[in-house]
Amino acid sequence: MRLDKFICESTELTRSMAKKALHRSDVTCDGVVVKDSGFKVTDNTVVRLEGQVISLVGERYIMMHKPVDTICSTIDEVYPSVLSLMDIEKADTLHIAGRLDADTTGLVLITSDGQWSHKITSPKKDCGKRYLVELAEPISEQLVSVFAQGIELRNEDGLTKPAVLSIIDNHNARLTISEGKYHQVKRMFAAVGNKVVTLHRECVGEIELDPDLAPGEWRHLTQAEINSIA
Ligand code: URA
Repeated sequence: MRLDKFICESTELTRSMAKKALHRSDVTCDGVVVKDSGFKVTDNTVVRLEGQVISLVGERYIMMHKPVDTICSTIDEVYPSVLSLMDIEKADTLHIAGRLDADTTGLVLITSDGQWSHKITSPKKDCGKRYLVELAEPISEQLVSVFAQGIELRNEDGLTKPAVLSIIDNHNARLTISEGKYHQVKRMFAAVGNKVVTLHRECVGEIELDPDLAPGEWRHLTQAEINSIA
């Protein structure tokens, strides 16, 4: 790629601003000042602008700790979109891989990579999502096998895919599901006469919500986390 194009795509500079930076000797390639806009940059070239390494914005992969009263939409509606909590460049290229309700908290994955998010959301890919659920009524041990067999949701044909319920105490449990039907967890518990009081997503596939992230905070995923979605 030409050096001036590389600078434009990896910074907010326009082509003419990039040319001026080159003329001012503000740009080095592998430690050597380069003034030629047409200089060819390869994948291995280390480009610095005013001493700072710059690189192309490739696909982006982010986790956020979603707070209550935010929505997993790309635009603000009654509540603000989780994307509006992020001070990040080119937010319009990002989307949310698997939505949570406004009152649900926890792990939200945000990316620019449509193929990657498809692996999370497609029921065929069997990517488990684990939720911590607080319930209004006591939970019976029998529910473990009921959810493992699959249950019929109101206004839906067929059964839910096998889900793993692990009871913590009378009113709290963990539930892992591998589909993302509308309000699925709430509807599963409603179908057995219970009511979800609070819902928090802890995990998607092998990606766990980072305990260092307070509600509203986010960080880029590590390469291992990105690769774990297969
Ligand atoms: N199931 C629900 O009912 N709500 C969510 O936000 C996620 C899963």
